[in-house]
Amino acid sequence: MSSETQVRTPYPQRNLLKIMWLVVAWSVVALASLEFLSIAYQKYTQLNAGSYGMFWTRREWLWTHIGGGALTVLLGALQFLPQVRRNWPRVHRWIGRTFLLAMLIACVGAVGLILTSPAPDAIRTAFGATALAWLVTAFLGYRAIRRGKVDVHRRWMIGCYLVTLAPITFRALIRIPGMMELASPMVMIPTLLWLSWAAPLLVYGLGVSLVRGMQAQHGPSGRMLRSDPGVESA
Ligand code: HEM
Repeated sequence: MSSETQVRTPYPQRNLLKIMWLVVAWSVVALASLEFLSIAYQKYTQLNAGSYGMFWTRREWLWTHIGGGALTVLLGALQFLPQVRRNWPRVHRWIGRTFLLAMLIACVGAVGLILTSPAPDAIRTAFGATALAWLVTAFLGYRAIRRGKVDVHRRWMIGCYLVTLAPITFRALIRIPGMMELASPMVMIPTLLWLSWAAPLLVYGLGVSLVRGMQAQHGPSGRMLRSDPGVESA
């Protein structure tokens, strides 16, 4: 093994742990997303008032919203495959553009649904905030890549995908035993709608800051930097 390779992978077991953690995390996300999409598919492919419930009179908005939304969930997941990014950058770019278009379509549907919704203001505001967070994270990610800032782009697009997963996270949150008993639904629903994207963004942001802080101290490979004499000599 060359000394260059040794520098790049000083802790193979750490890389293996990272890969295992990523595989587990993505499997959970993929299963939850597929479950969410299949429930929506089963419910709304039956064209009758019973299946659609409160969406029956505004089903055009719902179709626009789900059509675009389902595409973003599926396309967004593909963007995280490192092989695609590395070997087919043009495919990555086109998937990215299609993702943004689908997101805009889903947002048009979401705005239509919010404006026609009989839900209380607190719920409609929470949905509006989610849509805004979606647009802002996507805009910042797109602007970063147009300026050639790949790392910043990656971070904002991960944030954007966390917002994309908000309905799936929301569904997971309301299924936590006892969660909906904490307060009345009129309090819990808007609170969980906010939390479904704000909490993942916050955790991710804190994680990034923590890793960057550690890298600044120890270097990207995890080894102490020479410019940290006090710790190195300890
Ligand atoms: C992240 C930004 C999103 C916002 C702001 C948003 C907003 C909304 C709104 C306002 C409604 C109607 C709720 C009501 O009238 O009570 C709704 C319903 C729905 N949305 Fe989204 N949504 C988002 C993402 C997504 C995504 C990515 C999907 C994936 C397919 C999706 C799938 C659905 C489905 C299936 C429904 C019907 C809910 C049900 O069957 O109970 N949404 N969404």
